[in-house]
Amino acid sequence: MYKHFIRPLLFLFNAEKAHDLTLGLLAFFSKIPGFRTLVRLIYAHNSPGMAREVFGIRFPNPIGLAGGLDKNGEHYNQLSDFGFGFIEIGSLTPKPQEGNPGPRLFRDIPDKAIINHMGINNKGVKNAIAHLKAEHPEVIVAANIASNASTGRNDIPNDFLYCFSMLYDFVDMFVINISCPNVNGITDLQDVAYLSDFMDKLLDNRMAMDNYKPVLVKISPDLPREQLDDLLDYCLRSGVDGVVAGNTTKSRDKLTLSSAQIEKIGPGGLSGAPLFRKNLALVSYVHEKTKGRLPIIGVGGIMSPEDAESMIEAGADLVEIYTGFIYEGPDLVKKIKQSLDTQKDIKQ
Ligand SMILES: Cc1cc2nc3c(=O)[nH]c(=O)nc-3n(C[C@H](O)[C@H](O)[C@H](O)COP(=O)(O)O)c2cc1C
Repeated sequence: MYKHFIRPLLFLFNAEKAHDLTLGLLAFFSKIPGFRTLVRLIYAHNSPGMAREVFGIRFPNPIGLAGGLDKNGEHYNQLSDFGFGFIEIGSLTPKPQEGNPGPRLFRDIPDKAIINHMGINNKGVKNAIAHLKAEHPEVIVAANIASNASTGRNDIPNDFLYCFSMLYDFVDMFVINISCPNVNGITDLQDVAYLSDFMDKLLDNRMAMDNYKPVLVKISPDLPREQLDDLLDYCLRSGVDGVVAGNTTKSRDKLTLSSAQIEKIGPGGLSGAPLFRKNLALVSYVHEKTKGRLPIIGVGGIMSPEDAESMIEAGADLVEIYTGFIYEGPDLVKKIKQSLDTQKDIKQ
């Protein structure tokens, strides 16, 4: 239904319009009595064997929605109806921000990929909190937080600390976005000298809270090995609970697009099928390097149940999808869950 009917219709619109339209329609239909129940009946079944306990949280299944789709934290419940075990909202910044000028979202259909240069457009933390208060989450919610593009280098730590303390009572866990390739300066935060500057404070602030919320850092597949090693070492020493591996890549390897087409699209992060091998290698490396001591959310180019299984075999405790959801639709979540369930039966 999605691939033969809904996707061709959505792909008639430019990518950003299609995104907004889909979320708008989802919100509209979700208000119709019975709609959400029907969607849940089709997609939201979890067998007990799918549950996973990671960083102290019990996930009903290991498949999450990656950051950037529910940017504002306005659709987590409706999206959870499609069977996700958790939803990452954001990236959220202290102040609302427009993001980069458009066009800034491109489909590369032959490669089952997306190139985005969105620049963390979002309505800000206060808007998300208003939603979280108004609509109690029926799903595990991770808040992905980032700094505003206009924030001066010295004040970036305060942006993260602000988002963290503002959101603390309303979400289940945090993802610190230090790997967005579309906002100048953010990837510099992957340098431990810089990261520890605010992460130490952030983790200290957590000690003063009544309850414990896991904090993960989201890393780039483009990070040079030496820097990655330092970062992983810091995570293990400091009390960071895990990593999201990883974000989009600046690389354009393995695309069937011509160099003229690539040039026309311009800068941005590449996601989807061509990212899979790169992020799988990242997950595998992180797992080996940390000897499995740092939980991993594997994300990047998961387009099939086999891809999700490979990520888990490489060391991911949980996985997330974004571009796969756009190309394959909600069936992908259901198929991954079914396949994990079957694998579990085979292994037993
Ligand atoms: C349009 C778009 C917007 C995104 N926005 C964010 C974001 O705001 N914050 C973030 O951490 N990641 C963002 N991402 C990256 C995804 O969370 C994910 O790491 C990446 O797309 C790789 O997974 P995928 O191949 O399944 O899409 C975005 C991705 C896309 C395609």
